[in-house]
Formats: sequence, C-alpha cells, structure tokens
Amino acid sequence: MRFGVLTGGGDCPGLNAVIRAIVRKGIDVHGDTLVGFRDGWRGVLENEYDELTIESTRGILPRGGTILGTSRTNPYKLDDGPEFARETFADAALDGLIAIGGEDTLGAAHRLHEDGLPVLGVPKTIDNDLSGTDVTFGFDTALQIATEAIDRLHTTAESHHRILVVEVMGRHAGWIALQSGVAGGADVILIPERPFDLDEVCAQLERRRARGRNFSIVVAAEGALPAEGEEALATGEVDQFGHRRLGGIGHWLEGEIESRTGFETRTTVLGHIQRGGTPTARDRVLATRFGLAAIDAAHAGRWGMMPALHGTRIELVELAEAVSELRTVPLEDYEEFSALFG
Ligand code: F6P
Repeated sequence: MRFGVLTGGGDCPGLNAVIRAIVRKGIDVHGDTLVGFRDGWRGVLENEYDELTIESTRGILPRGGTILGTSRTNPYKLDDGPEFARETFADAALDGLIAIGGEDTLGAAHRLHEDGLPVLGVPKTIDNDLSGTDVTFGFDTALQIATEAIDRLHTTAESHHRILVVEVMGRHAGWIALQSGVAGGADVILIPERPFDLDEVCAQLERRRARGRNFSIVVAAEGALPAEGEEALATGEVDQFGHRRLGGIGHWLEGEIESRTGFETRTTVLGHIQRGGTPTARDRVLATRFGLAAIDAAHAGRWGMMPALHGTRIELVELAEAVSELRTVPLEDYEEFSALFG
C-alpha cells in the first residue's frame, strides 16, 4: 500500500523516531511505499512530497526536529483547502495519510477524515496537553531540559542571593512548569490553570528570606496569569489556528517582584531550547511505539484514530476524543505539592 506521512505544528524531539518506525515497519514488514510531505499540511496543499526509504531515514532516531520540516498551515484556512488535499491524495495515489502533530494538526486530520479522506494521527507535543493519551512524546525531553536549567539556576541564585524567575513553555497547560518545578525544587510554581495572587507570591518569597533562605527560584509557565489580569503576549501575532504567541510573564514578574520586595531578581526565558536537540530515551521509545502502531492502524484502515498511551499499553483512540478539549493540569495535581511551596 502507499501511505503519506507529515509532521505539523511546533516541532518536538521524537518526530524523527516516529517517521523511522513507520518507514521501517511499513517497508520491511508490510511491503509498503511511504512518501513524506514537506512542512506539514503545506506539503499536502501544494502537492510537495518525496519518497521515504530505509536509506533516507537511516540514522535519524536520535535527531531532534523533523526531517520532513513543519509549519502551522491550516488546510481549512483556504476555501479550497480540503479540495486541494483530495487532489493531492489522488495525484500521489495514496491509500491513506498519517499526520503527526498536536491539537491543531490532529484537529485538521480529524476534519479531513470527517470530510471523507483516509487520515489517522500520531499525538506529539512538548506541552503534553492532548486528551485521550496519558502522555505525548516530546514532553519528557522538554521536562528534562527545563529541570536541568533550574538546577543550574539554583547555584547562581544562591551565590548572588537573588530571586531567579524561569519562564517555560506549555501554552495553556502547566505540565512542564509544574513537573520541572517540582523536579528542580522550585520555591514558587505558577501555572495557567491556577491564576496567581502576586501579593501571595511576594509573601512566599519574603517568608523564605525570613527563614534565612536568601535566594528563591520561581518557575512560571508562559501561560501563567495573575488572578486579576491577562496572559502575557510576546506579540499581537495570531497563527492560522487562531493562537496568540505567549511570552513575557517572566520579565513582568521580575519587575513586580523586585519593586515590591526589594530582592534582586533576574529572569531566564527557556524558549525553544525546550523543543530542540536530542530526545530522551523515554521519548524515543514512546515515539517508536506510536509509529509502529500507526502503520499497523493504517493497514487495518483505522482512519480517524490515533495511537495513545494508556498506562503501559498503546491503544487506538478516536481523533475526535483527542482534540475535544485540552488536557490541562488538574488542580489536585498542583495541590499535591503545596507543602513544598513557601
Ligand atoms: O506547542 C508547542 C509550543 O512550543 C508552545 O509551548 C509554545 O507556546 C509554542 O509552541 C511556540 O510556538 P512557535 O514555535 O511558533 O513560536
């Protein structure tokens, strides 16, 4: 059979591991032909693809990013988008398409499937905010990078008796902030799911100082927001899926904390460092399992589905379920750690 593969949305470590697994099992076990579309849905709309072979995917398992390229192109932003996709399917003689992506890419995959095209998905995102699966690949790597950064910031915060604010990614979900903050021993963790009270944050930092701890680490998710305020935006830009670019909460906190407490404060914005570079072993294994399950699902004609991790097992779930709502941090998960803050 002949299947297409694409990677869409923000890249994340492990994408190449999925592609490799699909190609290896597709060719060696099923005798398939695989083609890779350039830059996510853009390649489908513009009919741009290359054949993927064992040779062309050799050595990519440990590499971050995606050999296919990616974009935030939304096929439903163009009036004729679904029609272009249909023409590409016919031109490339596809029996189906495997779309590897997060809520936006999988949302488009779901709609195209509803519009009659044979499409299935593979869940990826460092944000870990997709429903239907316990975890997405890419998250573990981002978490590891953020934790290592917090460890490094600890030593310099202590030497200079400073407050160090670390802004991490995650969009509207606080998974990276909460888990890296806990793993790195942060003193204050701010997540979008629980708008914060700045007076309380400053009081926490002052209580620590009064106990002789004259430095502190504050981890802020990029989507964290004050109880009486809005998310901080990097720019006014809106992408094709309607997302605004978040960013800036770290520097805002720096100014507020320093002026209210008098403690010297600095900010580090980890940004795309969290998405780049080599995937952790855990992400490579999960991505490989998703890829193997995806090519089997394509053979079985399980369109409109995606592999998901449930406990230790990989199971297929409906794309509709995965994109129905964002999987954010339950408040009780945050409260579980409250004894460690301030
Ligand atoms: O969804 C992944 C993510 O890294 C978010 O955490 C972040 O808000 C966004 O993508 C950044 O997007 P871009 O790479 O387009 O700036």
